[in-house]
Amino acid sequence: MSIKINYKNNLSNKKLANLVLFLNEDFNLTSLKKHVNSSEYSFISDLLKTKDLKQRILTFDISSKKKIILVSLEKNLSNSKVENLGAKFYDKFKNLKQNEFVFNSDTIPNKLKNLIGYFLHGLKLKSYKFDKYKSKKNKNNLSIYIAGKNKPSLKDQIKFNAIEEGTFYTRDLVSEPGNVLHPDEYAKRLNSLKKDGLKINIYDEKKLKKLDMNTLLGVGQGSIRGSYLVTMEWNGLNDKSKPLAFVGKGVCFDTGGISLKPAKFMEDMTYDMAGSAVVVGLMKSLALRKAKINAVGVVGLVENMPGGNAQRPGDIVKSYSGKTVEILNTDAEGRLVLADALTYTEERFKPKFIVDLATLTGAIIVSLGSEYAGLFSNDDKLSNQLINAGENVEEKVWRMPLNKNFDKLIDSKNADMQNINYVGGAGSTTAAQFLQRFILNKTPWAHLDIAGMAFSKYGGALNSSGATGYGVRLLNKLIEDNYE
Ligand code: BES
Ligand code: ZN
Ligand code: ZN
Repeated sequence: MSIKINYKNNLSNKKLANLVLFLNEDFNLTSLKKHVNSSEYSFISDLLKTKDLKQRILTFDISSKKKIILVSLEKNLSNSKVENLGAKFYDKFKNLKQNEFVFNSDTIPNKLKNLIGYFLHGLKLKSYKFDKYKSKKNKNNLSIYIAGKNKPSLKDQIKFNAIEEGTFYTRDLVSEPGNVLHPDEYAKRLNSLKKDGLKINIYDEKKLKKLDMNTLLGVGQGSIRGSYLVTMEWNGLNDKSKPLAFVGKGVCFDTGGISLKPAKFMEDMTYDMAGSAVVVGLMKSLALRKAKINAVGVVGLVENMPGGNAQRPGDIVKSYSGKTVEILNTDAEGRLVLADALTYTEERFKPKFIVDLATLTGAIIVSLGSEYAGLFSNDDKLSNQLINAGENVEEKVWRMPLNKNFDKLIDSKNADMQNINYVGGAGSTTAAQFLQRFILNKTPWAHLDIAGMAFSKYGGALNSSGATGYGVRLLNKLIEDNYE
């Protein structure tokens, strides 16, 4: 897949490329008169009589090679609808032999300022494919030339590109199989993000032991790979003001450990590091677009394996916070990784807020499917900001309850708490309630359970099947709208 966008003005040598024109949904062609020659104009107006005008993208074959493409714009177009239209455009034309397109941006009604920007953003997001391990690559290349004056500003171009690159980086990480992207390899890749201007700190097992991060270490101890905590700092304000903090679950593969998962669909657990991948993709895009904020990303990287040295059900471990946890099920491991990461993030960075992301529970898929991530939070303001950002970029969240009445379900007889609720029910809430115990200083905190969102077997509006990158655009929007 490769999409080439060209903003050069002289397009006299592109007469044979497909011509893309925009018009209002009433298909009032007179506005197009000055943009096509008279025979093309009468050709289109004749053909329009026979076409289904409800279709958003209409094509007319001018010759065996060249098409005129009409994109109709409905009255109340949101940015997100424009993105979807761009994605639809990609799907419709990705297999065309004549793959050069000239977009006449002068045909866009004036009030739709950034239409080209959002249209191409959707188109590019949709075009992503993970075909690294295919010997035969599918070449769906499009070359797009933008003619006319209605172009995105340089600043917007940089912003869109940064978000695309961040999202693609997240999708790449999530798509990698467990034998390639184990914690050692993951930590190495994160180290390479220094080139984008991020400050990277890698804590390996030796350092984590010194710090007493035993709930994180316990999860990884059955694996031949290492366990890591990695911090990524972006100091866009060049001052010491409090950063925004993002924390991610990075379980590179979740077998369940000694509480082994059943074989069916266990392969899906290669995406159990998606929370961390969103944090990484977000940090990358903040750096690429030189966002005017301070932010820190913190990820816990482990592999949850059974083995001679693996953690046992019944083990009791002491977390970085000092609180003790009885491990009743080694498959409830994400919360153990996050527990240490959350306390450390709060104490070390004293952030304005913490948002964590994790493919934490199967139960959230039962409640919300693949439409909403579950949101659990101790802060109404942060929650509303996330809900609004989600509606805006079509990466939606739905707020679920936290309540001290759930606490009795995770209190343990032998330790301060246990890592599962034995009574049953409220699986996602008890997991979130567990996490909340590791926020020690009342920092505004939100937990996003993205188990149903990180991966899509069927694809969505802006992604083909596979890793979705859900969360990168949501958090970029949260930052852009409220903190920049
Ligand atoms: N990684 C899983 C959650 C998950 C399930 C993510 C399906 C994506 C798709 C998590 O570590 C887990 O195994 N959770 C258990 C918790 C249970 C043992 C309390 C679950 O959801 O069954
Ligand atoms: Zn698990
Ligand atoms: Zn897991």
